[in-house]
Amino acid sequence: MAESRTTGGGFPPDLERAAGFIRRRLGEVPPRAVILGSGLGLLAESLERRLELPYAEIPGFPEATVEGHTGRMAAGRLQDAHLLVLRGRVHAYEGYSQEQVVFPIRLLAALGVGRVLLTNAVGSIDRDLHPGDLVLLEDQINLTFRNPLRGPNDHRLGPRFPDMSTPTSDLMNNLARETADRLGVPLRGTVMGGVLGPSYETPAEIRMLQRLGAGVVGMSTIPELIAAAHLGLEACAISCVTNYAAGIGKDRLDHAEVTTAAESARVDFIRLVAALMAEL
Ligand code: HPA
Repeated sequence: MAESRTTGGGFPPDLERAAGFIRRRLGEVPPRAVILGSGLGLLAESLERRLELPYAEIPGFPEATVEGHTGRMAAGRLQDAHLLVLRGRVHAYEGYSQEQVVFPIRLLAALGVGRVLLTNAVGSIDRDLHPGDLVLLEDQINLTFRNPLRGPNDHRLGPRFPDMSTPTSDLMNNLARETADRLGVPLRGTVMGGVLGPSYETPAEIRMLQRLGAGVVGMSTIPELIAAAHLGLEACAISCVTNYAAGIGKDRLDHAEVTTAAESARVDFIRLVAALMAEL
């Protein structure tokens, strides 16, 4: 993991304000959280004793605009684990600044959450990965050419030059692999090429990503993993393959396909997340 925050002395006021509001509304905040990507929002409905808070009510929280990304935070029990769920996220392609995109993950840190599972939808570049498969992101290639840490560094959040040699947490990755094995849920490790979107890639771009070593391609998660490394948060990422990337499959790409494939992976996804969260 990256170095942790360099000072123990609190978070910037906008994050403290939002965290205080959430604590007043949700009570005790569990130390583990899941951020749900496209089509994976139904996990939030499986929470028992659920308390929900629309993003729009949280001071400073950017509102999600994409279909399949209902913007709300929920706390509750998923089988044996008490967890916080962020249903829906905002993306740079919607026009949000990098700072807005990473506001939720920084807020989680300000709430005392130490372990975060990021989930998203990706297209497969590796021909052994198919729609409906779940993959563990072991590394990422930032092809958005943006970085949420650009600008003056706020030492309350983390160091100027955070280490990215383990972009996802070894500890959480190992637990995710063990949990998936135990449940009999296939979970291959791969590298994500992260792009800005919102247009899908061209076949030539996908061939380029393939040569660079990416097994999947997606439009989210890159900035959040950078911000998590900065904060010293343990974070891992599980993606649902929703389509063959451009030129890999025969079909044209559309968002409806992305949400439908994610739904077909839902049962395994919920089992895996519930069991993994119970281990953390
Ligand atoms: N490309 C980029 N992002 C994606 C894709 C894709 O093919 N599928 C789901 N998210």
